[in-house]
Amino acid sequence: RAPEPATLVIFGATGDLAQRKLLPAVFGLWQDGLLGSAFNIVGVGRQEMTDEQFQDFALNALKTSKETDEIKEGSLEKFRDLLYYEGGDFSGDDVFRRVQVELDRAQTAHGGRKNALFYLSVPPSLFEVISDGLGRLGLNDQAEGWRRLVIEKPFGRDLESARALNDAIHHVWDESQVYRIDHYLGKETVQNLMAIRFGNSIFEPLWNRGYVDHVQITAAEDLGLEGRAGYYEEAGVVRDMLQNHLMQLFALTAMETPAALDADAIRDEKVKVLRAVKPIPRGRVRSVAVRGQYGPGSLYGEAVPGYREEPNVKEGSTTPTYVALKLEVDNWRWEGVPFYLRTGKRLPKKVTEIAVVFKRPPLSLFPSGVERNVLAFRIQPDEGVSLKFSSKTPGQEMDLREVVMDFRYDAFGAQLESPYSRLLLDAMLGDATLFPREDEVDHAWQIVSGLLEAWDGRAAAEFPNYAAGTWGPDAADDLMGPDRRWRRL
Ligand code: BG6
Repeated sequence: RAPEPATLVIFGATGDLAQRKLLPAVFGLWQDGLLGSAFNIVGVGRQEMTDEQFQDFALNALKTSKETDEIKEGSLEKFRDLLYYEGGDFSGDDVFRRVQVELDRAQTAHGGRKNALFYLSVPPSLFEVISDGLGRLGLNDQAEGWRRLVIEKPFGRDLESARALNDAIHHVWDESQVYRIDHYLGKETVQNLMAIRFGNSIFEPLWNRGYVDHVQITAAEDLGLEGRAGYYEEAGVVRDMLQNHLMQLFALTAMETPAALDADAIRDEKVKVLRAVKPIPRGRVRSVAVRGQYGPGSLYGEAVPGYREEPNVKEGSTTPTYVALKLEVDNWRWEGVPFYLRTGKRLPKKVTEIAVVFKRPPLSLFPSGVERNVLAFRIQPDEGVSLKFSSKTPGQEMDLREVVMDFRYDAFGAQLESPYSRLLLDAMLGDATLFPREDEVDHAWQIVSGLLEAWDGRAAAEFPNYAAGTWGPDAADDLMGPDRRWRRL
């Protein structure tokens, strides 16, 4: 299925994200013939540039990005012809008028309707400005073709600002035209969560409080700030990772079976389970959450600076770079089953995993005791799914040992595509399944609000409280109580 003829308009087309991820993703889709024959790109930015300069910029980005697929002979030159550029100030009408002219021109070239996908790859302060500008010129109007708006994260910086942003966007766009990006949803392994849960009969019967002891969701990063202090100092780990990526992983793991595999049926279920999460009252934050900030340490044998020593981080910064959180879900399926979420920067390695940890058998017949079975979804890297269970070791004794049954994506022999390719194509096709809906974003903010209120701007005497290259503050272990522990990954 190829999208109808369309123009992709990228606001912020010379920015970091466009350069590293978007342009390579679009190029890959186009080169594979997935965007149809009638397609072009209009880059928009505040900087003035000719089409030719933008074409040079884009081709250079494709040649240097690690994300670019293998370039077929002659491809780059043909792709170059699809690229146009308009520069100007987003607060006036002029730049939007010129975008309109670009759409007319594309229609003349493509034939068909005047479809356009507007991608906001710009700082959040410009989301509303650009959405309003497009609205003023009637570029949101679908009479001549579909019009869709893709918005990058972060969507708001707290519940209130997210609501204000949703309202502002809805003044111009219908919710069905809005595609909020959470690139974790574009990951192949994240989509496979639903396939494995609902495409097999052996897991779902166990997926509840009767059999599950607890669930652990980990998104560990070895990277530090990567020169993003300006953004990260404002965001911190709760806004950067927890409110979006981890909440999405949680929702997909905990939701009920959707009535169908369509966008609204799935998103309805995600919202239902997010709503069922017990709020974290400000006074109780300490008993359910731990924040951390890395100090100097070492990774892969090399010394690395602490967060406060990173360039452009404020002296004595209280920005958290690690969070661990216990969520409780007030519904029949999960009553009494805690979900433990953790994510942080400068942990010993990059690994994202969802582990469903099952209850021990009711009675242990074996002298060595029995361990809990674990079904682990390895989101990245070494993508796969494993099931850990106990087996008798060969010999006279009835000694048990844990063994692992492993499925690895290598088995498919195919390279996993970039999440941005998948999401861009879905937006072009009008499939919003992998994009968080307004109410999902709202509920995710509601869940983390207690943490933000308790932590924002408040001195953290204990910071830094973990060394770079370790698994986070010791206090995170206490969240689990005496009988559970974080998985060693
Ligand atoms: C981004 C965050 O959304 O996700 C980054 O802003 C983080 O701080 C990144 O490093 C992680 O994404 P991935 O796909 O590498 O796990």
